[in-house]
Amino acid sequence: MEYLKIIGGSKLSGKVAISGAKNAALPIIALSIISKNNTEISNLPDVADIKTLIELLRNLGAKVNFKDSHSIDIDTNDINSTKAIYNIVRKMRASILVLGPLLARFGHCEVSLPGGCAIGARPIDLHIQALKKMGATIEVKDGYLVAKAPKNGLNGTTINFDKITVTGTENIVMAAALANGITKIINAAKEPEITALCEVINQSGVKIEGIGTDELTIHGSSGKLLEIDKIDVIPDRIEAGTYLCVGAITNSKITITNCDPNHLDAVIAKLEDMGFSFKIEDDKITILPAKTIKPTKIVTTEYPGFPTDMQAQFMAICCIADGVSIVEERLFENRFMHVSELSRMGADIKLNGHIATITGGKLSSADVMATDLRASSALVMAGLVSEGQTNVRRIYHLDRGYEKLEEKLKNLGANVERLSE
Ligand code: UD1
Repeated sequence: MEYLKIIGGSKLSGKVAISGAKNAALPIIALSIISKNNTEISNLPDVADIKTLIELLRNLGAKVNFKDSHSIDIDTNDINSTKAIYNIVRKMRASILVLGPLLARFGHCEVSLPGGCAIGARPIDLHIQALKKMGATIEVKDGYLVAKAPKNGLNGTTINFDKITVTGTENIVMAAALANGITKIINAAKEPEITALCEVINQSGVKIEGIGTDELTIHGSSGKLLEIDKIDVIPDRIEAGTYLCVGAITNSKITITNCDPNHLDAVIAKLEDMGFSFKIEDDKITILPAKTIKPTKIVTTEYPGFPTDMQAQFMAICCIADGVSIVEERLFENRFMHVSELSRMGADIKLNGHIATITGGKLSSADVMATDLRASSALVMAGLVSEGQTNVRRIYHLDRGYEKLEEKLKNLGANVERLSE
């Protein structure tokens, strides 16, 4: 098993280039299922989750050709199976993104239920309810969702999501693109990854109104496949936010490049509250050290609010801030698994339900275990400011979503090594 060995205490400096967004690339790859022509995607992040979805598409019969490690062509015209098998789906919950496109194109599909998830139950009831409202019948058989569309295809309707769901919105937007008539999604998620997906669909023959808002109107094509042009995946705002946090926790001046500062408002505002300042250019952000790192109060919420995917990284900074911080997790019920590992590194964190109270102090090195993707980066960050050697194990979680993490950190001057045992 591989692990990261981190010797903390180095000041960092320099530049780090941000990769394409995993969470934008996943729905775009799923979208290729409803494309007539080859879908050409560039700026793909080279991370495990992307490979898992490609494996799933290949298993369905799609041809995926890597032009280089960051660009692919997908041809879905030879898909000969509509069964998304458990052995692949279990590796990544976002595999559920093939449900809407498969059902819309082929009129039927079987998608394995994703199973347990490290950060809580993560139901998909809203995806299912919405597809049923579009006329689908969906039942669970042998651990699979067995979905069937009406004979003439899914029908446009009004979907009012009880709760804002990112992949739920993406699934329904993709299903609605081929449906008969107009689908209106009320209370849609409006993360930049959804805006990017809608823009591609809008340029591919299916009109979508309200892009970037919480009310989307999709003018379905009645089964006509999309004609997708080349797609360049948007920069990863969570990877970008993570490196800003790396700069913050080590109180170093570092510059992130190839990013979209507009997607990082909530993260930058919070770091400013904590005493850091910024120089922002077109696609570059430089974080400048703080005189003292101040405590803060964080409540996770949907975009454009503070992202749950940045909660663990900020908690690591709170562990060394000068005072008491409060972190409230509103989206996922079990997203505090990093707390016990940070505590093993000397953090003073009290948990009360979904609220953590963190009294800043010093962190010390330890052997810790990564528990989910973003929690893992928080442990790496903690290692960077702990004296001595921290070993972070189970880093396959990190590899799901961070491209070349240790290489990028080393380039900034961090003492990080990937080792095997
Ligand atoms: C996506 C992101 C993930 C991020 C999350 C919240 C991808 C691939 N993943 O996950 O990184 O942390 O958004 O920003 O883009 N819910 C239901 N029923 C449903 C669907 C969701 O109750 O059918 C609940 C969830 O349990 C959760 C909340 O809604 O409490 C938000 O979940 P959702 O936005 O669906 O998260 P994901 O799309 O899985």
